[in-house]
Amino acid sequence: MKLTIVGTGYVGLVTGACFAEMGNDVLCVDLDAGKIERLRQGELPIFEPGLKEIVLRNVAEGRLHFTTDVREGVRFGTMQFIAVGTPPGEDGSADMQHVLAAARAIGRHMNDYKLVIDKSTVPVGTADAVQAEIAAALAERGMAKVPFSVVSNPEFLKEGAAVEDFMRPDRIVVGVDDERAALLMRALYAPFQRQRDKLVVMDVRSAELTKYAANAMLATRISFMNEMALVAEKLGADIEQVRRGIGSDARIGPQFLYAGCGYGGSCFPKDVKALLRSAAEVGEPLHVLSAVERANERQKHVLVDRVLRRFGPDLSGLRFALWGLAFKPDTDDVREAPSLVVVRELLARGARVVAHDPEAMERAREALGAAGAIEYADAPMAALERADALIVVTEWKAYRAPDFDRVRTLLRQPVVIDGRNLYDGELLRGYGIEYHPLGRAPVLGTPAPLALAA
Ligand code: UDX
Repeated sequence: MKLTIVGTGYVGLVTGACFAEMGNDVLCVDLDAGKIERLRQGELPIFEPGLKEIVLRNVAEGRLHFTTDVREGVRFGTMQFIAVGTPPGEDGSADMQHVLAAARAIGRHMNDYKLVIDKSTVPVGTADAVQAEIAAALAERGMAKVPFSVVSNPEFLKEGAAVEDFMRPDRIVVGVDDERAALLMRALYAPFQRQRDKLVVMDVRSAELTKYAANAMLATRISFMNEMALVAEKLGADIEQVRRGIGSDARIGPQFLYAGCGYGGSCFPKDVKALLRSAAEVGEPLHVLSAVERANERQKHVLVDRVLRRFGPDLSGLRFALWGLAFKPDTDDVREAPSLVVVRELLARGARVVAHDPEAMERAREALGAAGAIEYADAPMAALERADALIVVTEWKAYRAPDFDRVRTLLRQPVVIDGRNLYDGELLRGYGIEYHPLGRAPVLGTPAPLALAA
């Protein structure tokens, strides 16, 4: 099939590359000439495991093309994916101007049937707005009779696993209001569902809401566990054992139950805000979800609270090593990352910070700007030299089993504050390290090392 993807951001690029990999002819359109030129050279704007190989292969084999020419893009594909950004506006609602501009461009240049597919995460009712824009643009050209359909096909990609999620989805949600569109969508996704029928077909508005409801539910689970962790700690219980205890209930399930130092990223914070906003607009304020948002804001401060409890309110003269800047592992994305809150607060209180991240240091540098006394270390252990404590913010694999003897000897004070519960407290006690996990018993004082390495 011939597909056009409008927008070569995260979702657009993964969608275009993966559909090309499945044998389709794909043209990706973006107004950013620099980005298109770099993509043509095989340079990707994002880091995503496995994506580069797919892009390079499909460009080389002639199934994946890039252009800045919108007219060419519209003429090319029978299927037109809208995968442009929907950044949060000032009031928290999703900013729809790029989506509507893409719709207008389709109406301006199409001459025959088009299936227009909303891939961007968009508020309920957007497909109707897209429909209206296209119809108006066609009418202006005296071509009101040219047929088209608008469907909603939200994306459930996780950063760091986007290619895998796209190629082997749990389900494919398709919101359609007409038969022709339903058939085309079924044909498009046929190669992805050879094992079982993964298509969940519904009306357009339900599909639009499904995307928000899924992210809001996941954000709720995380915030719930984060609060349980805080209370477990006060009550002398262990959140990791509680997690195993409740996760084995089939109604609850084991995934997405890990307490941490707050969720971030490009989706949860933005989608929670946008859903709160749309619900309020129709007079149905969401009490549970607004508490989720507040709880997450608080959670981003728990690591600094621990630092203050341990080192006192004035951090001047202290130096903290920070492992992990990305909002989660396997991505270079720092949007809404807890690390940014931690770094800013430590610096504001006079501390120095030496941060390490396997992929996100460049992005963090951009996000933090001239934030003051922050340095970036080129290896995890290098960050520890002369630091007063280690703060773990992101659970990259590279941080999971460090040489604790070196950790202890490099740190000025052997203190580890862990926002992801990566380590076994008893083991750290054996190494003579003071350990502050979340929602479970800390190892306090400076234990005498047991010479475990010998
Ligand atoms: C999310 C959704 O999972 C995906 O379906 C949607 O399309 C986009 O938003 P993503 O933002 O890439 O994907 O990351 P995800 O792996 O879901 O993690 C989101 C945040 O939750 C991260 O900050 C992560 O650290 C946090 N998290 C996740 C927890 O704190 N605990 C968990 O148990 C799981």
